[in-house]
Amino acid sequence: MRDYIEGLPKVELHVHIEGTLEPELMFRLAERNGITLPYADVSQVKAAYEFDDLQSFLDLYYQGACVLLEEQDFYDLTWAYLQRCQADNVRHTEIFFDPQTHTERGVGFEKVIRGIARACLDGERQLGVTSELILCFLRHLSEESAIDTLAAAMPWREHFIGVGLDSAEAGNPPEKFNRVFAEAREVGLHLVAHAGEEGPADYIRQALDELYVERIDHGVRCTEDPALVARLRDSGVPLTVCPLSNVKLRVFDTIEQHNLPRLLHEGLNITINSDDPAYFGGYMNANFLAVAEAFDLDRATIAGFSRNAIDAAFISDERRRALHAAVDEVDT
Ligand code: HPA
Ligand code: ZN
Repeated sequence: MRDYIEGLPKVELHVHIEGTLEPELMFRLAERNGITLPYADVSQVKAAYEFDDLQSFLDLYYQGACVLLEEQDFYDLTWAYLQRCQADNVRHTEIFFDPQTHTERGVGFEKVIRGIARACLDGERQLGVTSELILCFLRHLSEESAIDTLAAAMPWREHFIGVGLDSAEAGNPPEKFNRVFAEAREVGLHLVAHAGEEGPADYIRQALDELYVERIDHGVRCTEDPALVARLRDSGVPLTVCPLSNVKLRVFDTIEQHNLPRLLHEGLNITINSDDPAYFGGYMNANFLAVAEAFDLDRATIAGFSRNAIDAAFISDERRRALHAAVDEVDT
């Protein structure tokens, strides 16, 4: 199964670029920027990656991001991730970035977007990995801050295809961001949101009904509401499920307890993704392998995750056809 997964062309739809910051690069950038980390070495960083919940992860994730100061830092971060994509046979990726994590520290928006976008261009030319960017608003901050962020991003509109919503979910419902999502919709941006990771099933409903999102990031708690499950099945809204993330953040205690089999049994449109791979112990192949082994999934189901992601991606019909043809070659 490992060989099959490694050989399968894949598409990633849920990855935070700040969550791909490996401890080794964190140390290199800290040194380059004269920043002192609260860890003596890489092994201490890795030892700190034991999380009780989403917030305990976010505290370290935002702390780690403090080493990112210059355009080149964002380039190096993104380039390292795209190399991992190539190694894992990920042919296309839609990357979240969190501008407020950086602008709140005084880092200019242009440094963030320029560095990431330049790496994406090189990734396409040199690695054959295509990518798009999705700007995420931090939901623990105000809607005014999100509105300001979107306005600051508009001069760079050609560099991103959509907006999303991440960070601390509980107590920060989608409806808090109705206006900024309406603004994004008006300018033709794609819309996604994290919902139903730690927050209740009702947040998934809100994301659909009030934000008009096209995909739900995570969404695993939908199973708490049978009517919502039926709606997701009938509408075919894609869920970007992140198995290793869900275990690391204790949404499920073990991979065997993950509700993926239930989601599949309900006929939902499931994709598999890595979320914050440097923090959660694995990139795409590791996530695919974890669920394949835990649930003894067959090849058709595994290839189905790739096909679902290809169909759910915000790409041209031409690119979609090419990606499906690549999957056809291994899934005959
Ligand atoms: N959930 C919410 N916010 C995040 C996550 C996540 O899994 N990863 C990075 N920011
Ligand atoms: Zn996420």
